[in-house]
Amino acid sequence: MPEPFTVLVMAAGHGTRMRSGLPKVLHPVCGKPMVEWVIDAAHDAGAAQVVCITRPGDGVAQGLPDTVSVAEQIEGEGTGAAILAAREASGAVGTVVVLSGDHPLVSSELIADLVATHGREGAVATVLTTDQLDPAGYGRIVRGPDGAVERIVETKHTEGVSAEELAIREINIGTYAFHAPDLFAALGEVQGEHGERYLTGVLPVFAAKGLRVVAHSTDDASSAMGVNDRADLMDLDARAQRQLLEAHARNGVTILSPDSTRVDADIHIGRDTTLWPGVTLRGRSSLGSSCEIGPQTTITDTALGDGVAARHSFLDGAVVSDNATLGPFAYLRPGARIGPGAKIGTFVEVKNSEIGAGTKIPHLSYIGDADVGENSNIGAGNITANYDGQRKHRTTIGSRVKTSVDTAFVAPVHVGDGAYTGAGSVITDDVPDGALGMARTRQTNIEGYAKRKDPKPG
Ligand code: UD1
Ligand code: CA
Repeated sequence: MPEPFTVLVMAAGHGTRMRSGLPKVLHPVCGKPMVEWVIDAAHDAGAAQVVCITRPGDGVAQGLPDTVSVAEQIEGEGTGAAILAAREASGAVGTVVVLSGDHPLVSSELIADLVATHGREGAVATVLTTDQLDPAGYGRIVRGPDGAVERIVETKHTEGVSAEELAIREINIGTYAFHAPDLFAALGEVQGEHGERYLTGVLPVFAAKGLRVVAHSTDDASSAMGVNDRADLMDLDARAQRQLLEAHARNGVTILSPDSTRVDADIHIGRDTTLWPGVTLRGRSSLGSSCEIGPQTTITDTALGDGVAARHSFLDGAVVSDNATLGPFAYLRPGARIGPGAKIGTFVEVKNSEIGAGTKIPHLSYIGDADVGENSNIGAGNITANYDGQRKHRTTIGSRVKTSVDTAFVAPVHVGDGAYTGAGSVITDDVPDGALGMARTRQTNIEGYAKRKDPKPG
């Protein structure tokens, strides 16, 4: 059993290079804020405790899962000041792993490997490094003759950095394991540079005390990549997206056009489901098996059962049961619950409504705040008039109902099982079971009308 360890996630930087009103670590990668990727990796690696370091009032703490405790960096600038702010929350004993909130793809395997190396080497600090990235702007690893890490040269500001140091390709990716008591003791001795207290400043303090620092090096470039500006974010998002699509493909999902498909993190897709070009899956969505999705379909916070087909459709906050068919051009809004085998067809919008098994709404309709039973057929152009200008009301339509074209239901109103409506009816009163509801003026033909209007013989 590896020793238990605490993870500190540094997330209190200003991220000025993002040029954004949103804190850097809240920028999403494949729909999930960067800092949440890091927290998930920490949990998956087996962290006993996760502490996230934020600034008071920056909004980062609000969205965090309650498995995480928060330490506020109230004063001081720099990564060293960040870690000092978490001294109490960390307990300052045993092994502390430090992660950077702006390296979102750090893998749980890599964190576990770092901790294992740290334990095996018995070092005071173990630094995660790589030579797989463009080293510009990163801290460079200066090793001693025995391979131990002596210090890290920051290259964000290059004045005073030697050509030899700039030639080093091995960089610090801002992920470390420390022996906590030594870490906090050394941090107190670190001098400020460029108005900041650098966490990397602890290494020369350790060296002066004869304490050993080792490196754990990785070839996994994606896991190592950091985000300082939005160009980095674009690169990293593309990599994360590719990894997600590959994982779904390996799990049995067919993705016909990976370049035009966007799938957020943490979305479940069952096997033998096919994603046609132009599909976007967002938020907390889940898709069953053997679904045919797209082309050009956007699904947000929606659960689909098995065997669902959705073409050219926009689904948001809906629940769709097995074998339902949607579109082309269906719009499901929050609270739409579509029963098994139901059909929501072309230019049909459904909001906050339950549509029963086998019911069909094939063309040009708006169904809002309604409950429709099973195996009913809603004619073309049916509208629920659910809003009287002040309040919303419900329409209830039974099972095996057949409504004719252009029926308007003025809610609250009820149509019984097996009932019919006549074409063009405005239904304001309940229709009993099995009845035909007709509500329109009868047609009048005015004979000879054209002649009277234009008496000249044509
Ligand atoms: C840091 C490292 C550098 C490394 C690089 C990897 C230092 C001094 N340098 O530089 O060696 O190559 O990361 O990306 O540590 N943060 C706080 N509070 C602060 C400042 C920063 O919590 O006061 C957080 C940021 O939110 C970020 C992380 O620490 O998640 C790194 O900060 P950043 O300013 O991006 O450091 P780099 O200049 O990239
Ligand atoms: Ca950074």
